[in-house]
Amino acid sequence: MKIVRKISDIRLLLANERKKGKTIGFVPTMGFFHQGHLSLMELARKENDVVVISSFVNPTQFGRDEDYEIYPRDEKGDCQQARKVGVDYFFAPSVKEMYPETHLSWVEVEKLSEPLCGRFRPGHFRGVATVVTKLFNIVQPDTAYFGEKDYQQLLVIKKMVKDLNFPVKIVGCPTVREKDGLAMSSRNSYLTTEERETASLIPQALRKVIEAFESGERDVNKLVNLAKEHLSSPLLNLEYIEVRGPDTLEELSKVEKEALFQLAVRVGKARLIDHIILGRKETYF
Ligand code: PAF
Repeated sequence: MKIVRKISDIRLLLANERKKGKTIGFVPTMGFFHQGHLSLMELARKENDVVVISSFVNPTQFGRDEDYEIYPRDEKGDCQQARKVGVDYFFAPSVKEMYPETHLSWVEVEKLSEPLCGRFRPGHFRGVATVVTKLFNIVQPDTAYFGEKDYQQLLVIKKMVKDLNFPVKIVGCPTVREKDGLAMSSRNSYLTTEERETASLIPQALRKVIEAFESGERDVNKLVNLAKEHLSSPLLNLEYIEVRGPDTLEELSKVEKEALFQLAVRVGKARLIDHIILGRKETYF
């Protein structure tokens, strides 16, 4: 596996691969790998001749009071894991390489970026869309792999790719969960033992909602209140629980066929998000 830090170098290396007719699978990440990241790399490995991953903690998707400075980083450990999966290129640019002082251009995906996490993290999806655009232009992959855990991010990226005519196929991969159902996230590493135990209320609440939905409950307020009741703990600070259309994120008061049931919760230093699509059983757990 080659570790590459310069945009000009990765471009040259991948141009050579393309010349040989190789397909390129790409997994953009912010590093500190867990099984969720590895599942994306494994699928990319299966489906492509060449696998490229990027590891870049993107400052422009963090708000001023967010966790950019303390975001967990472990490049050595990440490289070991990526090598085991058979990754070919590990692209790890510096902030200066990605955002020289002269940087002035931004990518904005309207509407889909506004509700849910967008409301609590203004500018977040602009930062994501911009860095993913830059990475796509640098790597020029045939296929790129993203976790479904960040469901709104996946919607935003799919829309951006469609609207801006990127020649890239976007593949979403299922959320990988811990034994108790907690969605894997690099931010879980912030949790103390007590906070980690409390965090298991999140998957428990989602399971209660699935049960109620599958027993016929369709009223959004009732489903939201059910989850709220289950999430009451002095260690949990609920940011939002919302039910929206799974494609355009429109507000719903009743679930007709399918609905995105999403929540964001603060536990200690960690902001955790999770979701299920009611009516889409493959998202249940
Ligand atoms: O999901 C992430 O890790 C990041 O948001 C991404 C897509 C790598 C962009 O920085």
